[in-house]
Amino acid sequence: MKISILYYSKGGKTKIMAEEVALGMKQIQNIEVRLFDLSCNEIDEKFLSESKAVVFGTPTYYASSCWQIKKWFDESHKYNLAGKLGAAFATADYAQGGADCAISFILHHLMVKGMLVYSGGSAYGQPFIHLGAVALKENFEESKRMFQVFGERIAKKAVELFS
Ligand SMILES: Cc1cc2nc3c(=O)[nH]c(=O)nc-3n(C[C@H](O)[C@H](O)[C@H](O)COP(=O)(O)O)c2cc1C
Repeated sequence: MKISILYYSKGGKTKIMAEEVALGMKQIQNIEVRLFDLSCNEIDEKFLSESKAVVFGTPTYYASSCWQIKKWFDESHKYNLAGKLGAAFATADYAQGGADCAISFILHHLMVKGMLVYSGGSAYGQPFIHLGAVALKENFEESKRMFQVFGERIAKKAVELFS
């Protein structure tokens, strides 16, 4: 089963966390994950259209997602994401910096696309990931494991829904 992770990362932190999410997904059997950097414009359209889940990663910019993600949504009419599982994660400098708002902003777009929005919520207990995984400057390294768990939960749910 294919899963795509689309992200933008100027300084590399969101990219690192995208890789952690992918690592977690690969714990689940028969999951094939590919990462697409939105700044490279190199999305494999076939792989994306065959993906059962699509996950978006953004740095937090002014308590919202980066504009590169918004631009992608505005110009992505050709991709039909309807019915796929969708999720989002963010990196940010500060706990009060609005990473949850950045994630919510993306989740709204996923709903508009007709995706099945998912985070795991509190269904699995600790770590609680209510809206999506967040990594802050102060606990960046410690957050890696949580991003793996986030990826694993999304992949599990995709298998449950689409196998
Ligand atoms: C233009 C700009 C706006 C930012 N706004 C916020 C913000 O509102 N809240 C916050 O916590 N961090 C903010 N940051 C910090 C980034 O979200 C943070 O450093 C992020 O991890 C960078 O990700 P990257 O290394 O993948 O580019 C901002 C950074 C930039 C460049």
